[in-house]
Amino acid sequence: MRAEFSENLITRNELIDSQHRELIDRINKLLDSCEDSDAKLAAIKTLDYLSDYTVFHFGAEEELQKEIEYPGYEAHKEQHENFKKTISELDEMLQEEEGPSPAFVKKVEENVIKWFYTHIEGFDRSVAEYKFMREHDGRL
Ligand SMILES: [Fe+2]
Repeated sequence: MRAEFSENLITRNELIDSQHRELIDRINKLLDSCEDSDAKLAAIKTLDYLSDYTVFHFGAEEELQKEIEYPGYEAHKEQHENFKKTISELDEMLQEEEGPSPAFVKKVEENVIKWFYTHIEGFDRSVAEYKFMREHDGRL
């Protein structure tokens, strides 16, 4: 399984969308690295590469939410914190095991890719919609 940027992930916020594309790219690099001959080292590196950008991206999204006084900020931030926890659990799995086991790959598919899809379609799209409404409709 690989992550894919499909139409239902578009938030219509250019900054968020372009960062999501980059994240998807990094998730796929992680999965590719699991098939490398030196998979353990490669996966540790690509997980770190994904983790760096995740922190950067969540920071940008949270900053944007503060700027527009988004009412769902706390709940959204909690989602981001949960995801960061997943990344550190994945890191622990890699450190403890010989390399990226089938359980590791499964966790990436379930807790990274699927989480990401659900998060974007619900949480991120709602932020972008709120921002759009705020800019185009005086009622907010
Ligand atoms: Fe988000």
